[in-house]
Amino acid sequence: MIVLGIETSCDETGLAVYDTGAWEAGRPAHQGVLGAALHSQIEMHQDYGGVVPELASRDHIRRLIPLLNKALKESSCNINKLDGVAYTQGPGLAGALLVGSAFANALAVAIQKPLIGVHHLEGHLLSPLLANDSLKKPTFPFVALLVSGGHTQLMQVRQIGDYQLLGETVDDAAGEAFDKTAKLLGLDYPGGAALSKLAESGKAAGFDLPRPMLHSKDLDFSFSGLKTSVLHQVKKSQSNDCYNESFRANLACAFVEAVTDVLSHKAMAALEQMNCRDLVVAGGVGANTQLRKKLTTMATARGYQVHYPPIELCTDNGVMIAFAGALRLLQSGSTTHGAFDIKPRWDLSSLNT
Ligand code: KG4
Ligand code: ZN
Repeated sequence: MIVLGIETSCDETGLAVYDTGAWEAGRPAHQGVLGAALHSQIEMHQDYGGVVPELASRDHIRRLIPLLNKALKESSCNINKLDGVAYTQGPGLAGALLVGSAFANALAVAIQKPLIGVHHLEGHLLSPLLANDSLKKPTFPFVALLVSGGHTQLMQVRQIGDYQLLGETVDDAAGEAFDKTAKLLGLDYPGGAALSKLAESGKAAGFDLPRPMLHSKDLDFSFSGLKTSVLHQVKKSQSNDCYNESFRANLACAFVEAVTDVLSHKAMAALEQMNCRDLVVAGGVGANTQLRKKLTTMATARGYQVHYPPIELCTDNGVMIAFAGALRLLQSGSTTHGAFDIKPRWDLSSLNT
């Protein structure tokens, strides 16, 4: 089965073609990716310090057809070879989702093929299955740590389509905390990756940043207080005239240490509580090297295994939507028609059947 995936939930337009042949034959899932095309709007939004929803929607409209042609060309495929069209139905920015939904609906009607509305987080969550290492495939049930710009959640994944929320952030998402802290330290939006790079040249000692909810009995997170502590440190150093390059690097390092401490401790607690051996990490913050190092060290010491998506599939992309949509189509063949049937707010556990 060959499925086109369309991602337009925020500031990336991603299209990809996935063939389920490899998956059905038990071969590594990444072999099914026939072609992909991606455009990031980051530069366009940088002047505004964040995503401007109206600009995002308009840019998706401009990019969809050229990116579709590029993905099809790379796949040596034409639209008549497609067996289905998958698109991100939610959660995300309403206008941006509408663009992808209308495009996918029109295409599915034109080629008379099924349409599959995909949950964006399910796309992230299944993307580690596309890693180029079949030996390390996670086995169900596993724990998933979803860390993106809009979400921070721990889930138990019992099967594809069977998810239980274990804990989530009560305020800012981890990516949001990275981006806001990066802004405080004078870095451009979205800042997460740049902040992590800056942290590499710093030393965390000398700052006593909080680890919010580290010892709470639940699996929830909180990151807004941490960002406020960084703000206090910046103000203090500016009034003492010691706000310089090495101060910024040290504070960035202390921030990354604090966030990754909380994320990794809670992830280990979730594995222990759910009696699972595999942890899957997905979402943009999953690209963070410090987080990867910490999770791998802690997991190995406890006999657990951590699975990451390929770096290029950590942030938003069309491949994860094509893959999740293709698995859904294989599973049920169900279709979601209706050009305005988007879900800007959508709980992942509500997918359970
Ligand atoms: O999953 P994603 O592309 O979009 C959402 O669905 O939100 O995640 C984007 C987030 C941004 O907040 C970005 O700053 C963060 O992921 N991010 C990182 C890194 N790369 C991306 N945060 C920390 N370290 C990174 N290397
Ligand atoms: Zn995302």
